[in-house]
Amino acid sequence: MQLSKAEIIRHLEDEEHQQELFQKADAIRHQYVGDEVHLRGLIEFSNICRNQCLYCGIRCGNTKLLRYRMLEDELIETARKAAVLGFKTVVMQSGEDTYYTQVRLCRVIEAIKKFNVAVTLSIGERDYADYKAFKEAGADRYLMRIETTDKKLYHKLNPKMSWQHRYECLLALKELHYELGSGIMVGLPEQSIESIADDLLFLKKLPVDMAGIGPFIPHPDTPLAHQQGGKLDLSLRTMALMRLLLPDINIPATTAMESLHPQGRIMALKAGANVVMPNVTEGEYRRLYELYPGKICINDTPQQCRNCLSVKIKMLGRTIGTGYGGHHKIAKFPE
Ligand code: 5AD
Ligand code: FES
Repeated sequence: MQLSKAEIIRHLEDEEHQQELFQKADAIRHQYVGDEVHLRGLIEFSNICRNQCLYCGIRCGNTKLLRYRMLEDELIETARKAAVLGFKTVVMQSGEDTYYTQVRLCRVIEAIKKFNVAVTLSIGERDYADYKAFKEAGADRYLMRIETTDKKLYHKLNPKMSWQHRYECLLALKELHYELGSGIMVGLPEQSIESIADDLLFLKKLPVDMAGIGPFIPHPDTPLAHQQGGKLDLSLRTMALMRLLLPDINIPATTAMESLHPQGRIMALKAGANVVMPNVTEGEYRRLYELYPGKICINDTPQQCRNCLSVKIKMLGRTIGTGYGGHHKIAKFPE
């Protein structure tokens, strides 16, 4: 669906009529991607990061955090267990950890592909040659949020990083035929409604195959500890508008939404989302992979998370996706 920037802004600001927006996004979700909810098993395999993003709890400047890294065998074993639990996609996520070289990651990807799962990488900015090698090793999808399209804000929040470089990484991933996921945080300090509208139009233009949208939640051990943080309702309106703009893509009900409200992901699934990414990381690692405080399920096991979500999805009258749940493009949308 085409929406002008002015129309997007109007919807973003319109708290009073948000239920109508959510219903519309829900109907479009039903029409274009159906009632299946695709589950992705999220493996948080290292919280070691070379970057300094001001919002992020695992930024390298946070010396309070105990760091961990799963070694190759442990990572592969975690993925194997996720496949046994029934996950058809595993998402390998980490900080930008340079231990995980091209050779190591390719070895891991090749091993995990043997479990007949789709592999999604979420490991940040890398060289073109790395992205190419990971694809050849069998990686199917890549997630990397642009975080914000306000370049000035981006550079304030991500010292030493370049917005242009991140954008070029996204283009490279597209060129290499990854299914591409990107997204933003809502409620960053100094982020305007207008800039969120620009973000949505940016994601539409790329276009992404998947868009993850979640509220910014201030972490106490970061420079943004005392900032306001994003609101759930505005995040949901942003996500619902993404569904209107790109009707056939995958949209996750993000974990950050549930951290703000016990029903956050349910609300998202009723407002345009069709994917959930339960954590399949085990033990202590869950707690240590703390991008933001109040992270849910830190004491649960992968099996518990899967069961809990199955119940929630069934209560919504939806079913759990049985396939890989990739992006099936619909050639032409009726306007
Ligand atoms: N609050 C909410 N989301 C966060 N992320 C990182 N830090 C925070 C935070 N404090 C998000 C970023 C990143 C994704 C993995 O987690 O958007 O891309
Ligand atoms: Fe982890 Fe509900 S999703 S316990």
